[in-house]
Amino acid sequence: MDQPIILDQLLKHSKKGMVSFHVPGHKSGKIYERFNYKNFTGQLLSMDITEIPGADNLHAPEEMIREAQERAAKFYKADQTFFLVDGTSCGIIAMLMAVANPGDKVIVPRDCHKSVIHGLILGNITPIYIQPEVWAEKGISMGVRPEAVEKALKECPEAKAVLITYPNYYGVCSDIEAIATIIHKYDKILLVDEAHGAHFNLSELLPISALEAGADIAVQSTHKTLPAFTQASMLHVRSERIDIHRLKVMLAMQQSTSPSYLLMASLDMARFIAESEGKFLMNHLLGHIDAFKSQVEQSGKIKILGKTEAEAHGAKSVDPTKILIDMINLGIQGTVLEELLRTKYHIQMELANINIALAVATIGNERNDFDRLAHGLLNIKDGKGIAHKRIETPLYSYQLPKMKLTPRQSIYMKKTTVDFTDSSGKISGEYIIPYPPGIPILCPGEELTTEVIEYTKALKKNGIQIIGLEDTTLQKINIIEL
Ligand SMILES: Cc1ncc(COP(=O)(O)O)c(C=O)c1O
Repeated sequence: MDQPIILDQLLKHSKKGMVSFHVPGHKSGKIYERFNYKNFTGQLLSMDITEIPGADNLHAPEEMIREAQERAAKFYKADQTFFLVDGTSCGIIAMLMAVANPGDKVIVPRDCHKSVIHGLILGNITPIYIQPEVWAEKGISMGVRPEAVEKALKECPEAKAVLITYPNYYGVCSDIEAIATIIHKYDKILLVDEAHGAHFNLSELLPISALEAGADIAVQSTHKTLPAFTQASMLHVRSERIDIHRLKVMLAMQQSTSPSYLLMASLDMARFIAESEGKFLMNHLLGHIDAFKSQVEQSGKIKILGKTEAEAHGAKSVDPTKILIDMINLGIQGTVLEELLRTKYHIQMELANINIALAVATIGNERNDFDRLAHGLLNIKDGKGIAHKRIETPLYSYQLPKMKLTPRQSIYMKKTTVDFTDSSGKISGEYIIPYPPGIPILCPGEELTTEVIEYTKALKKNGIQIIGLEDTTLQKINIIEL
């Protein structure tokens, strides 16, 4: 009989004692120990309950879940907070469907997460895309400018809402306050995908939180940057423009009817930790990050990308807890750096692209984690134990693709398979998504170009996973013929 594979792998992984610079924010549970919850994992199974008496019900909360959500709302200064057990993804889909009717238009940046596209498909909503700012040389998108949002609103006055990603995966932040002012001037709704910003209210040194900046709804992956279990997120509303009843209906359609109590408990725990000691811990974390940056940058050649670079490329600010490490001057690609840190130094980064490797630091990280990261980087800089080769990659222009069909129309169209290399000019029937970060280069219904084809092949050659295509070897692609 086949053994259970997932639990075995998880146990094997947990024995490795890796340093975590990736999500989830609890960093292998270390932070819980500091709060005297050392052995609680032993009780996980007996706590994995369902809606038994006294356990309340996420879909009609009246007791402990309601209380926990209210406490979270108070902490985040929201009118209402909803716990999400299917990640920020389900919150994004629900908020889109709560504010737009089938056939309506919503303005979204083209570099949005794929869950936004899923929301557009499910809600039969037509996207009006805004071109984001891009730092093409590093392959990083830099958010959207307020002027670009205003232009889109002028060109599409019938749009129901604007959805902004804030911050993006790399911690880059648009000028959300200016954007909120513009959107409300046009009497529209501001929806924010704040998946990477659940910790912003812990320090004045961090970018302003979306709600504080004026968002009507913000969805946060608490699990990414605070100590909550993977999949555990929150949706906050602070607005009179939102029909709460309709939002609840949409959330109920997107979330499991058997929500995990462990996830909900971890959300409540994350709120408690953030509220009780979050500011203190964040202060320490920012100190560790500053010390780490000076140490590695002093050595020359290792560059940590920050505010100056972000501003120079159109962004308003950058989250310092996202550490973007650039060693390309030494000929070390981000993907190679990630692999070296993982295999030789037992340090797991969050993501890498050709140019950079990204460390996500949270209040769950300790000083020692930064010492180990600095040690690894300095050794790699000195060429210890590495044989790396740089593969040249074409730069990508990040032009808005030609949308021939909406994502929803495309999903239901008949597909034909052709050679990927010869598919320029055809309409893609599939997504092309480098993962991470999960931002589509092309969505179903958009026109393939030689640039997209060559760039996708180069990413794959450089070890970046491409998802969304049925044939992940990139020999074939499904297209739509009109
Ligand atoms: C920008 C952005 N939005 C939304 C999501 C989806 O969040 P979740 O994994 O909590 O569903 C992600 C996930 O990586 C993301 O990077």
